Amino acid sequence: MKRELALEFARVTEAAALAAHKLVGRGNKEEIDRVAVEAMKIMLNRIKIKGEVVIGEGEIDEAPMLYIGEKLGRTDGDYLEVDIAVDPVEGTRMTAQRQANAITVLAVGKKDTFLKAPDMYMEKLIVGPNAKGLIDLEKPLTENIQIIAKANNKELKDLTIIVLDKPRHKKIIEDLQKLGVSVYALPDGDVAASILTCMVDSDIDVVYGIGGAPEGVISAAAIRVLGGDMQARLKLRNEVKGYSLENDKISKDEKRRCEEKGLNVGAVLKLDDLAKEDEIVFSATGITSGDLLEGIKRRGNIARTQTLLIRGSSKTIRYINSIHNLDYKDEKINHLVK
Ligand code: FBP
Repeated sequence: MKRELALEFARVTEAAALAAHKLVGRGNKEEIDRVAVEAMKIMLNRIKIKGEVVIGEGEIDEAPMLYIGEKLGRTDGDYLEVDIAVDPVEGTRMTAQRQANAITVLAVGKKDTFLKAPDMYMEKLIVGPNAKGLIDLEKPLTENIQIIAKANNKELKDLTIIVLDKPRHKKIIEDLQKLGVSVYALPDGDVAASILTCMVDSDIDVVYGIGGAPEGVISAAAIRVLGGDMQARLKLRNEVKGYSLENDKISKDEKRRCEEKGLNVGAVLKLDDLAKEDEIVFSATGITSGDLLEGIKRRGNIARTQTLLIRGSSKTIRYINSIHNLDYKDEKINHLVK
């Protein structure tokens, strides 16, 4: 994918982050998501792509914008056919409560690059390049942890693992702590966490736990390009929450969607199943400051954004700091970001 095009995608996550940040700390998750989605859609429609949303805000009957299957982009002149995976606000709760680590994120790849996962849960095990090829979700977590420590040339006490701080992970966190591993129990946001396993300036060795499947696919895009590894399993909501399938309409729906897409719930998915190609562009912009990215700093109508832009074909990772004068944003986007 061309360099110039990569920068266009950075502008998309910048706009979504600016829009979301306008409502930071104001408690309205729905409105935060709505403005970020709208900003993302406006910006994506300006790019010379024939794009299809494959990971988005939900199925067509659930989401008015950026729904799965929505076509985006400009097809006048030269254009590229791409699949788009978006999470306009990864951390709506964090944004609404002005907490750390909220980002806006997208991954773009050639047609059929990404697993078309429904919006459901996914168990994920993610590691950096040293442990690539060595993890196996079929094995107990403790065994994987020993293998990962060895691959990183570390003792267990020096290993750091991120697990989402959710009731479903309580026992896992306790077991890991008993092993002597350092657990970073993160309230939300496993996309940024996953990327940290592959960054030179981070001490995160592993991410494990159950989070969103769409977030899993987006993470896989970055992990693939950064040389890390990931295995995953789709999980029905009832298994995660511990109630019966019979009485849960949402889980039955998830099961049906998986069957329609030919996806096997519970089967181990490897990195290649989640993101097939290296020719990916991944862009994430910080909304609130966190472990991966700085959040938006704003003084009146001058705003600073920080974006992580990864281009799969060259494997270059760029941190782009931009200063935006919001008075000069065009009319269509102005009301969302100013
Ligand atoms: P949102 O972007 O929907 O706020 O997701 C935040 C997040 O923590 C993800 O990073 C994670 O994959 C998922 O939620 C976990 O789901 P749940 O909140 O149901 O435990």
